Amino acid sequence: MNTSGLLGKGRTALITGASRGIGPLIAREIARHGGHAVLTGRSAADLKTVTTELAATGADVSFIAADLTQPGAAQALIQDIEREHGGIDLLVNNAGGDPLREFHAMTIEENLRTLQLNLIAPLALSHAVLPGMLGRGRGHIINISAMAGRVSFPYTEVYAAAKDGMIGFTRVLRADYHARGVSASVLILGAIRGAGQGQRMLDEAGMKASGFMAPAESVARAVVKAVTKDKAEVVVMPGPGRLLRALLDYFPALGPALNRAAGATTTMQKIIQRRETRTDSAQTA
Ligand SMILES: NC(=O)c1ccc[n+]([C@@H]2O[C@H](COP(=O)([O-])OP(=O)(O)OC[C@H]3O[C@@H](n4cnc5c(N)ncnc54)[C@H](OP(=O)(O)O)[C@@H]3O)[C@@H](O)[C@H]2O)c1
Repeated sequence: MNTSGLLGKGRTALITGASRGIGPLIAREIARHGGHAVLTGRSAADLKTVTTELAATGADVSFIAADLTQPGAAQALIQDIEREHGGIDLLVNNAGGDPLREFHAMTIEENLRTLQLNLIAPLALSHAVLPGMLGRGRGHIINISAMAGRVSFPYTEVYAAAKDGMIGFTRVLRADYHARGVSASVLILGAIRGAGQGQRMLDEAGMKASGFMAPAESVARAVVKAVTKDKAEVVVMPGPGRLLRALLDYFPALGPALNRAAGATTTMQKIIQRRETRTDSAQTA
């Protein structure tokens, strides 16, 4: 299967979660190859800023704002882009995140919104984009997952379920459609520094990035590598990521022990407490 021709001139990529964090770097790396990149996220103002910056470097980019937790949003987004650009060759399901609150302290509706953003929306986008890709006999879907479930990162129950779900989803998708010209890859990210939710957490806790964090640019490079080399799974973290992931599966108690040793559990408790205090004082003000 030839996937190397999915990024150049005449090709269109859709990158979700491209208004801030790691997404703009992924969009920049993809656009560097000459194709058209459509950026999406909820904030039209942030998307405008990012596309203006990228266009100033010569990139061929546009944006459409959409809230992917809304019913029908994924289908409407894909239809709009197909009408405008004639088809989507690469879909990067990057939008995601976690409210970082205790599972029981959130309502079930709040928990289900996390599932909607991190699992249901990527499924719906993939479902909507597949008929066009199959019709043209070419396409690639990149799903951004996380080590959260493997490492039992504190207070990420629903996020971890969604991100582990993305791994199973991608494996089956890839196996089912590869022979028909459509591939799928999953990127499993450890903690990322320089941009995104991991860096924001560090800033909030007044901490410096550790050597266990990979730079945000390496995620963008891994997306392109997954497409051009047609990789099934890429673990993005310093050191032997795939080996560590296998060890965490083999020894399920290892993740929580590492979190405790690295102080992740205490740091997360402090962040949650600080947020709750801020919410309480805002409500009583
Ligand atoms: N950063 C890390 O350490 C890390 C580690 C492991 C995995 N990841 C994964 O990497 C991906 C990118 O993370 P990030 O750190 O860059 O996150 P981020 O900085 O929080 O950015 C999240 C992106 O998703 C968009 N988004 C959020 N809710 C949305 C909604 N309802 N509809 C549409 N778009 C929505 C946001 O845009 P708007 O606010 O404009 O909607 C934003 O562009 C995520 O899938 C995340 O789970 C990150």
